[in-house]
Amino acid sequence: MPPCDVTPETYKGRDYDETMRVKKKHISPTKVPAYSEPLLLTQGKMQWLWDHEGRRYLDMFAGIVTVSVGHCHPVVADGLKDQIDRLWHTTNLYLTPPMHEYAEKLTATLPDHLKVCFFTNSGSEANDLAMALSRQYTKSFDVISFRNAYHGGSPYSVGLTAHGTWKHNYPNGFGIHHSVNPDPYKGIWGGSKCRDSPIQADRECGCMGECEAGGKYLGQLREVLDYSVSGRPAALFAEPIQGVGGAVQFPKNFLKGAFDLVHNPLPS
Ligand SMILES: Cc1ncc(COP(=O)(O)O)c(C=O)c1O
Repeated sequence: MPPCDVTPETYKGRDYDETMRVKKKHISPTKVPAYSEPLLLTQGKMQWLWDHEGRRYLDMFAGIVTVSVGHCHPVVADGLKDQIDRLWHTTNLYLTPPMHEYAEKLTATLPDHLKVCFFTNSGSEANDLAMALSRQYTKSFDVISFRNAYHGGSPYSVGLTAHGTWKHNYPNGFGIHHSVNPDPYKGIWGGSKCRDSPIQADRECGCMGECEAGGKYLGQLREVLDYSVSGRPAALFAEPIQGVGGAVQFPKNFLKGAFDLVHNPLPS
């Protein structure tokens, strides 16, 4: 492993067996780890993690990409420390400076049509909100996402998610339709010329010259609009690269075509 100039603190907290005992007794069994003996992680710094015995790991997972600036990044940590002794929560009935400072800095990086923020606590809530806003704004009800998509686990957003493993026996997905997943690697169409990516699928391509898979998957989306949607959909949800479903990249021009289709869904 590459060298690292951080010396971790010696961990003096609860030991491994005791932590596992508490986990088994007091933590919901839905949090099943992928390992029979999961790591007990006690410290992190940028790309590095340490376990309770001081072993160092190069973290290529970053909390499922949520800590993408690194663990305990000094700029983020300083901002947190600065605020934590000054003011916590007030409700949004009042103004507080950091939210406005953040909104201005964030929107400065975004294009002109994305200049308004609505801060939420999680991806699921963001998608719940996006779905509610789109239905309010368009006065339409139908929403479309793709099979193999993951858009959250809250009772509302789980309807957008299209993996049986993440579905449970409660009602979800009212008004949501899942179109065929435009996956040039494992899907019904596509091959080595189709992905919108420098890295192509190692699968023989049946396309003659230009990629034809994108158009065929758009045809499936067209059919969802024709057969399942009443007029215009309120929204289409799509991951630019599907994550939970396995780093799936769509065919060339597919997302642009899907965007155009849902904005002009009525047959010409
Ligand atoms: C693409 C995508 N959208 C939404 C979510 C849901 O985010 P959260 O777990 O913060 O609710 C995830 C989580 O993995 C995700 O990968």
